[in-house]
Amino acid sequence: MATQLTAPALDAAKVRADFPILSQPQPEGRKSLVFLDSAASSQKPQAVIDAVDAFYREANSNIHRGVYHLSEVASGLYEGARETMAAYIGAADSREIVFVRNTTEAINLVANSWGRANLKPGDLILVTEMEHHSNLVPWHLIAEQTGARIEAVRLNRDLEFDMEHYYSLLAKQPKLVAVAHVQNSLGLINDVKKIAEHAHTVGAKVLVDAAQSAPHMALNVQELDVDFLALSGHKMVGPLGSGVLYGKFDILSAMPPYMGGGGMIRKVKVDSSTYADLPARFEAGTPAVADAVGLAAAARYLTGLGLDAIHAHETDLLNYALDQFAEIPNITVFGPTDRTHQNGVMSFEVDGIHPHDVAAILDEENVAVRAGHHCNQPLMERLGVIATTRASFYIYNTREDVDRLVAAVLRAKHVFGVD
Ligand code: ALA
Repeated sequence: MATQLTAPALDAAKVRADFPILSQPQPEGRKSLVFLDSAASSQKPQAVIDAVDAFYREANSNIHRGVYHLSEVASGLYEGARETMAAYIGAADSREIVFVRNTTEAINLVANSWGRANLKPGDLILVTEMEHHSNLVPWHLIAEQTGARIEAVRLNRDLEFDMEHYYSLLAKQPKLVAVAHVQNSLGLINDVKKIAEHAHTVGAKVLVDAAQSAPHMALNVQELDVDFLALSGHKMVGPLGSGVLYGKFDILSAMPPYMGGGGMIRKVKVDSSTYADLPARFEAGTPAVADAVGLAAAARYLTGLGLDAIHAHETDLLNYALDQFAEIPNITVFGPTDRTHQNGVMSFEVDGIHPHDVAAILDEENVAVRAGHHCNQPLMERLGVIATTRASFYIYNTREDVDRLVAAVLRAKHVFGVD
């Protein structure tokens, strides 16, 4: 039997058919939907909708509490989802997977638990100027509380993570490096393996915001050797309100709880408590069980398509779009000089038209994009803009979608008289 050396290419037309929202009838006079805002939140395939639906129809009950059959079924589904997510990111042990609502909650958990326990006045937290607000504000809050201070790695002239600047900041012995794997406005893919390797030489821990990478490329936390990794389910075709914090077992084990309540304890007295082992210690209260089950279905769906095929598909769409945008006068596309370091996210500015106006005209053409600062105010400042228009590509997008985007941008230029 012949060995298959390359993953089968992704068939976007077939994938589209799995997503009910993409084929629903549009209001009178509205064109078919071109959804180019998956970096904000992706659409959901039938397999995920079915998994959530089946949980509520067939298994709904609280977990790890009941001794009855239904509760055991629900508990099994929840812990099975944890195993699936461990496999999805290459974690060695499913106890390293904590279910959270989203990347933001995962980072807040680390900042509040690890940060409070480990940061002292004067300690340095390294971030970058390209971070999403969710990988900045939790550190601001914890720095205020602990007396730690924050410095940021710059972007270089090619709009990439400035390694030389990073090395000079590492010499200041930071306690933590917090960095995005894929930047959410530029699509820049950071070499987090190399970043982690260098951080570890000075004893710093590394937290990776994988919100924009987990949906798009194969991840292996052991190969990357990162200490923490955060992801959101809703960007990877999973339910809104689902997410994962990964932490290395020894580090998570040594961390105090973030939230207190039911399910996370070993023994409670009226004036004190002791805490459960991993991962229960970090999952106080009744968890979002159906959403975790839906997230596992999402991980299986993406794995079934093949993460390498997904990445290749998005790269094709990005290059197709970049080539066409390069032909349009008076448009600036913000991204790394080296396209091979860019994932399927493209931010742009049309001279003479506010990004929100561009997005509004695109919406008239039923092309959904995001306009604004994308929770990247420091990056926008670095780029010298207030906002951008951003198109982001995913598994269900096609070259025809890119053509519709380009045509809509040309129409916006025409409407505003800047063509
Ligand atoms: N973080 C999401 C985005 O970049 C919401 O749009």
